Amino acid sequence: MRKLYIAGNWKMNMVPSQAVEFAKSLKEQVKDAKVRVMVAPTFVCLPDVARVLKGSNITVAAQNMNDHESGAYTGEISPDMLKDIGVNAVILGHSERRLYYGETNSFINSKVLLALKKGMEVVLCVGETLEEREGGKLEAVLKEQVNVGLEGVDASQMDKITIAYEPVWAIGTGRTASPDDADSAHAYIRSLLAKKYSADVAEKAIIQYGGSVKPDNVKELMAKENIDGALVGGASLTLDKFLPIVHCI
Ligand code: 13P
Repeated sequence: MRKLYIAGNWKMNMVPSQAVEFAKSLKEQVKDAKVRVMVAPTFVCLPDVARVLKGSNITVAAQNMNDHESGAYTGEISPDMLKDIGVNAVILGHSERRLYYGETNSFINSKVLLALKKGMEVVLCVGETLEEREGGKLEAVLKEQVNVGLEGVDASQMDKITIAYEPVWAIGTGRTASPDDADSAHAYIRSLLAKKYSADVAEKAIIQYGGSVKPDNVKELMAKENIDGALVGGASLTLDKFLPIVHCI
């Protein structure tokens, strides 16, 4: 049985003082959650949030990291910096990074490999644009994103990888993929993992859905066989929306 994994990607929201207050309340109110919980604050919020959530049942993740260990990369953050402040997880390949910052599958792959080398957990985001979906390219796009994104990752490391399926057209738009559409994309991703690794790896893989997940659609999505959690953007920013999502079971 795969355990549901609900993550809040705060994106570029909340200043550190707000993030700390939010994390303190969240910690109290999810301590009996039946799902696994993650939050991903911005870099400047991470040290304080990691301190507040240390020893809790909430995983703290970064939203990105650099693909080098250290050096002359002005403005960048390395995995060792994250680990030093108690952050052992990272979201990689989010569609906003692909779209606005030109991140390619092979560039994302180099970050995945470095994060794993450093013993970090990775949430690898994949998902098609509306144009790709309407052009019949859904499977080709997912195949490329999964296979290139995970190149060089071996089966024994797959327990450190969560895949987040986030159709780009459903992010921040209020348009959710129907539970059936999402489930079939997840089933396809699982089949890619079965082919690349084994039926066992595929069966155990956690595949989150992301894209306008809200308290009123989360139950229907999570009821689907291949949907093992959610990567939540907008609705992770307030407790009145995020708590019912976390407590969806
Ligand atoms: P929304 O929940 O705001 O659509 O964002 C989804 C997302 O991109 C999470 O990473």
